[in-house]
Amino acid sequence: MTRIGLLTSGGDCQSLNATLRGVAKSLYRIYDNLELIGFEDGYKGLIHGQFRLMKPSDFSGILTIGGTILGTSRQPFKLMKVHDEDGFDRVEAMKVTYHKLGLSCLVILGGNGSQKTANLLSREGLNIVSLPKTIDNDLWGTDMTFGFQSAVDVATNAIDGIHTTAASHGRVFIVEVMGHKAGWLTVHAGIAGGADIILIPEIPYHIDNVVRAINERTQQGKRFSILAVAEGAISAEEASLSKKGLKEKKNAAVVYPSVAYELGAQITELTGHEVRVTVPGHTQRGGAPCPYDRVVATRLGAYAAGLIKQKTYGCMVCVTSGDIAHVPLGEIAGKLKTVDPKSQLIKEAKMVGISFGDE
Ligand code: F6P
Repeated sequence: MTRIGLLTSGGDCQSLNATLRGVAKSLYRIYDNLELIGFEDGYKGLIHGQFRLMKPSDFSGILTIGGTILGTSRQPFKLMKVHDEDGFDRVEAMKVTYHKLGLSCLVILGGNGSQKTANLLSREGLNIVSLPKTIDNDLWGTDMTFGFQSAVDVATNAIDGIHTTAASHGRVFIVEVMGHKAGWLTVHAGIAGGADIILIPEIPYHIDNVVRAINERTQQGKRFSILAVAEGAISAEEASLSKKGLKEKKNAAVVYPSVAYELGAQITELTGHEVRVTVPGHTQRGGAPCPYDRVVATRLGAYAAGLIKQKTYGCMVCVTSGDIAHVPLGEIAGKLKTVDPKSQLIKEAKMVGISFGDE
């Protein structure tokens, strides 16, 4: 009998279930005598031995359903190696669960922090195959993460929905897009939604340039402007400060709920325009996976099963130039893939007149 563990870790996204299905359906076809163990709520389930025996029927009908049938949670990597006051050792606990269950392999679906823990467990001698999940698309070693395209769809729909009301009222609108410290989601949704200004963490903005871009549109007779602003967008002034300096500045200033509101107040003050802010927030992680994600998820899942069959462990499945491949966890864990300000993507966006607030 072969017993394989599955867990989904970190923030959820639309195609976790589609990926689990891809892995499970392929594994059930490969092994005659297979038990799949589903850990509850990510690494938490592995740490505390909370799991259930999955049935093939658990993976039916879930291709189009967002979220994760296993549940998930954030278990920060930096706390993994820290023992509790009572001496509880999470890494040891995870190893004990793995060995007690006699797992041949553990399949981990997760983003940046989760890949770091996957690498740690691999180094501790567990057989690990991981898959690249996140709406942020910020995982090193893969061109694409599953969940990203579905989130682009949601964020784009949010921008699309703003156009008519922005035009009717002649207002400036800011749509704040998720993405943590990376601007992938904002750039893609911004271009797809026809945003006039896109602000991302990788390209610190000057408020004067943002104001100029808005004023130029007004002078051209355009009644409205739409900004797609990443939740991690930062001004050039703030980017030049040390971590401590930035904290001091934030503490001394008026407290805004997020960057979009702060920017909105500045734009109103400097242009006299009425500004409205829309934050789609966690809706960007919700709903059904888009068809592209369903295909990627299925392919990544099937490929992961193939790796397990070959006993190729300690790696993350990835997308590279349209093909599915794998990379050693040690090469990718802890590295962030951010938008290159000099990339073709940004150059082309600028060519059609999108301002990134940097010039
Ligand atoms: O990593 C996915 C993500 O949605 C980020 O874009 C965002 O910064 C973060 O998770 C939000 O985390 P939480 O769901 O814990 O609030």
